[in-house]
Amino acid sequence: MTETATHTAPADLRSTSRRAELQDKEAKPDSYFNLIAYIGSNAIAGEIMAIENYSEMVPLMPDTESKIEAVKQAHEETKHILMLGSLGRRHDYNMMREIVEPQWFNIRRHFSTAVANKDLASCLIIQDLMTETMAIVLYRTLGREGDSDTSALAARILEDELEHLEIGLKRIQGLLAEDPEGVNESLRWAHHRVMPELFSMVSTSCHSLCDRLNIDCGSLSLGDIKSDIDELRIEALDAYVETLDRAGFDPEVTAPLIESMQSYGGIPTVKLGAAAN
Ligand SMILES: [Fe+2]
Ligand SMILES: [Fe+2]
Repeated sequence: MTETATHTAPADLRSTSRRAELQDKEAKPDSYFNLIAYIGSNAIAGEIMAIENYSEMVPLMPDTESKIEAVKQAHEETKHILMLGSLGRRHDYNMMREIVEPQWFNIRRHFSTAVANKDLASCLIIQDLMTETMAIVLYRTLGREGDSDTSALAARILEDELEHLEIGLKRIQGLLAEDPEGVNESLRWAHHRVMPELFSMVSTSCHSLCDRLNIDCGSLSLGDIKSDIDELRIEALDAYVETLDRAGFDPEVTAPLIESMQSYGGIPTVKLGAAAN
């Protein structure tokens, strides 16, 4: 039997008054809570994937210090899952405690291929740079536009994700200095496999997540967090470009990759042109 969602807290922790309070004071409709259940569940899936990625990467780490650091990163992702789960309980909506959407499994599969190839640069690019950048955009949005409780929680998680990105940037800068051509090739390999999957999730349409959460897929609207898909996709694109830039990749290498994102849909061509320059 498949587990659906979490509702395992003791009854005394399952306070619906927090939700009622938010609905009262911050005028949040039920549709808002459905949206947060959807986003939060997908975030938990990303966190589960991150734990697996960091753990699988440990044997490839070149020294004990970086092995310890990767395990610590994985441990921090476990805390994010628990924090998001407790948010769902406080606000009385379901949160998935397993990966549902297929994109996460696809990214995991590519990551495992990189591990099998002993391609540490691709692993770091997939997890520390690409996934963390998207996590930062997600938690930043929730921090900005969520209710006060969600927003405070997102801000705490965001701090960890920003630190994870910094760790990744340092690691990649080191590898780039040693072997620029090899790392550029790892970026190309990872980009074409992982970025379409990550970008396809900047969306409110899903494969089966809404069904599992018992919510109406068509009723989800990012208007409930004062945002829209185009805006979010542009923010995600900007963040990705900034990450590649900060990692020290040559614009000659990154420009064609950014251009290729036009085929992922939903990103205005004008914006892509500007990002690639
Ligand atoms: Fe996380
Ligand atoms: Fe992280």
